[in-house]
Amino acid sequence: MQKSNETLANGVKTVVVPAAGMGTRFLPATKTVPKELLPVVDTPGIELIAEEASQLGAERLAVITAPDKGEVMRHFGAFDELCETLAARGKDEQVQKVARASQLITAVSVTQDKPLGLGHAVGLAEAVLDDDEDVVAVMLPDDLVLPGDVMAKMAQVRQELGGSVLCAFEVSPEEVFNYGVFDIEEIPTDSSLPSSAVKRVRGMVEKPDPADAPSTLVAAGRYLLDREIFEALRRIKPGKGGELQLTDAIELMIQEGHPVHIVVHSGKRHDLGNPAGYIPANLDFGLRHPQYGPAIYKAAKQILADFEAESHNTAISE
Ligand code: UTP
Repeated sequence: MQKSNETLANGVKTVVVPAAGMGTRFLPATKTVPKELLPVVDTPGIELIAEEASQLGAERLAVITAPDKGEVMRHFGAFDELCETLAARGKDEQVQKVARASQLITAVSVTQDKPLGLGHAVGLAEAVLDDDEDVVAVMLPDDLVLPGDVMAKMAQVRQELGGSVLCAFEVSPEEVFNYGVFDIEEIPTDSSLPSSAVKRVRGMVEKPDPADAPSTLVAAGRYLLDREIFEALRRIKPGKGGELQLTDAIELMIQEGHPVHIVVHSGKRHDLGNPAGYIPANLDFGLRHPQYGPAIYKAAKQILADFEAESHNTAISE
């Protein structure tokens, strides 16, 4: 039975997961395999997100999919025949692995016919939210933010300060051009929240030139947006890259007086959206894996030692 919003642990019933992008940074793999299904060790990014959403207390994953990315939703299917075959062979642990995604949360899909941008994708989720859902929770499946309780912290901030709450992390000045960047101001310390981690947002700019960036605090893929984001998304024009940018709709809301705060994340974050972030994520998770960890550790050390010896030799011979 579905719960009303007030009885949900963090007031979030639906988590929106945009998964309709082209994944161009992972071509040629993404010709046939959606980026969101690429595994971290053995588990697709989108299942890690389903786990985080379930831990938050959400009941439904609204997955925004593209017409040619049907496999993303298939991952949340039942796979009865596979489970039966595995069970008949005594592979109970594998049966659990197959069944897990569908048991974590109910996934529903909304089709984005064309990749018109993250803002456009999020706007489509309005169709599946219930009338009593006043918050639009968004988790990007190519962004791993660990530990997985950051959305719960953001929900606490929203409860205390109202408005919308986003997750931020610090990058170096040279990296800001890849992200939505925050213009921030400190807030008074009279709330029960750790003020050093919570800041008020004065403005937001998508992928600025480093010289124009208002700070080095950038958006991680976790958003708790007021439902009025849908109205803002209808009013923005295509921005950076010709796409409808979620950042531009948030900026519009801020400029019209809507309160927006960030929680500065102090844990880990992995960008699964490109090989330079995806491979370290696999190494990080792989090293901690109870079964594969020791072998990965040994192999990684050897690979690094060989690589450094090679680089050293090259440097000498040059
Ligand atoms: P990204 O920009 O990281 O994904 O969007 P992308 O567009 O697939 O990647 P590249 O740049 O081509 O390599 C963040 C998330 O938003 C989704 C993506 O699927 C990803 O999960 N997205 C992006 C959409 O759902 N629709 C869009 O139009 C754009």
